[in-house]
Amino acid sequence: MDLKSIENIVSLCKRRGFIFQSSEIYGGLGSTWDYGPLGTEMKKRIKDDWWQNTVTVRPNVVGMDSSILMHPKVWEASGHISNFNDPMVDCKQCKSRYRADHIDTNNPCKKCGNKDWTEPRQFNLMFKTSIGPVEDDANITFLRPETAQGIFVNFNNVQTTARQKIPFGIAQIGKAFRNEITTGNFIFRLREFEQMEVEYFVKENEWEDVFESWRKTMHNFAESLGLDKEKLKENDIPASDLAHYSKRTIDFEYEYPFGQKELWGLAYRTDHDLKQHMEVSGQDLTYHDQQSGERFLPHVVEPSLGVDRSILVALLSAYTEEEVGTANDGEKATRVVMKFPSAIAPVQVAVLPLSKKEELAKPARELAQTLRENFRVEYDETQSIGKRYRRQDEIGTPLCVTFDFESIEDNAVTVRDRDTMEQKRIKIPELESYIKEQLN
Ligand code: GAP
Repeated sequence: MDLKSIENIVSLCKRRGFIFQSSEIYGGLGSTWDYGPLGTEMKKRIKDDWWQNTVTVRPNVVGMDSSILMHPKVWEASGHISNFNDPMVDCKQCKSRYRADHIDTNNPCKKCGNKDWTEPRQFNLMFKTSIGPVEDDANITFLRPETAQGIFVNFNNVQTTARQKIPFGIAQIGKAFRNEITTGNFIFRLREFEQMEVEYFVKENEWEDVFESWRKTMHNFAESLGLDKEKLKENDIPASDLAHYSKRTIDFEYEYPFGQKELWGLAYRTDHDLKQHMEVSGQDLTYHDQQSGERFLPHVVEPSLGVDRSILVALLSAYTEEEVGTANDGEKATRVVMKFPSAIAPVQVAVLPLSKKEELAKPARELAQTLRENFRVEYDETQSIGKRYRRQDEIGTPLCVTFDFESIEDNAVTVRDRDTMEQKRIKIPELESYIKEQLN
């Protein structure tokens, strides 16, 4: 897939209602995007699947949902105030701003062609805000740049109320905010995004096994998104490039059309965060091992997954252009198909009456309503059947159910498979079990 394809995806997302530019009617706002009906459904599916596999099926992982606004001391303790910086340079001529580590300042500015750079300086990525009606230094805080800190500061609360013993994890899905310098590439680098994170608390000598186990889990999750495996790479980050809190990090990287870049991260955060919060807050955050009587600070392994990047790679992996015979004008006809796994497809079944006439539309609508009890269903009676199939292919609907004039006679419908385009006649009483089987 080349760069043009990211444009194709952006345009498909807008055309079909997956993702829109934020505040579009005002010309948009840099690196913020809004999810439309289909994008929202897909996002929910991805988050629900992650939650199911990470929390629901595991007896020793519990969930929480902390505030986006936290006490400013949190960010002092976590190191984000002093360390969460990117180096920035400006072009003195056209004032364009770049990440100093993303460009070579021996080269001229991409925008204006001049080579007149400011000295690199550190720029803190946290969004500042103030609490209460009076804006002064005393009530400054930040929008959280990661969900993780909400978990660390609640370590005691959750551990004691959920009565968990080490090893155990606390999971959270929520928004994070970063005032990124270099943005762009659609939903790849956002200023407001969502994370799915686990802080998994272990004894120090257990971290390596646990790290390996989460590594496998992350690969399995990638597979469930239908991710193109060949394009997924691991990058064991060299010690000199590790974040201030990490002793080992593997970046899961993906070959995007704009280069190989980070998708998710898996980090061994040691006991850095709990130690820091214990010191700054003065509260005892040690864990009491009932069996040995020991008190110690647990160490932490953290799988951290961006929701928006998960959606981006699911879109990129699903996007397919196929030749489908010859069009009326003799040109080769192509169709665009989003080959999503059925678990994350925003619509699983489309019900399409062959004609808008009430004698077909009414039973078709009723059939759609019955199917809605078990599946995500779209009912569509507009346009020609060819155009409706095209729409369903573009939104990645695995099955289309066509209700035609014969259906009234034979109590059967035609089911079309998105990928093979094969059509099968299925009796209506057998339809639900057929759909279930196909979606699995
Ligand atoms: N708690 C650890 C942490 O936040 P990170 O590598 O900075 O680590 C984790 O972020 C994940 O969050 C990334 O791997 C990516 O999926 C997502 N992410 C980070 N910054 C992002 C941004 N500006 N836009 C979209 N997703 C982002």
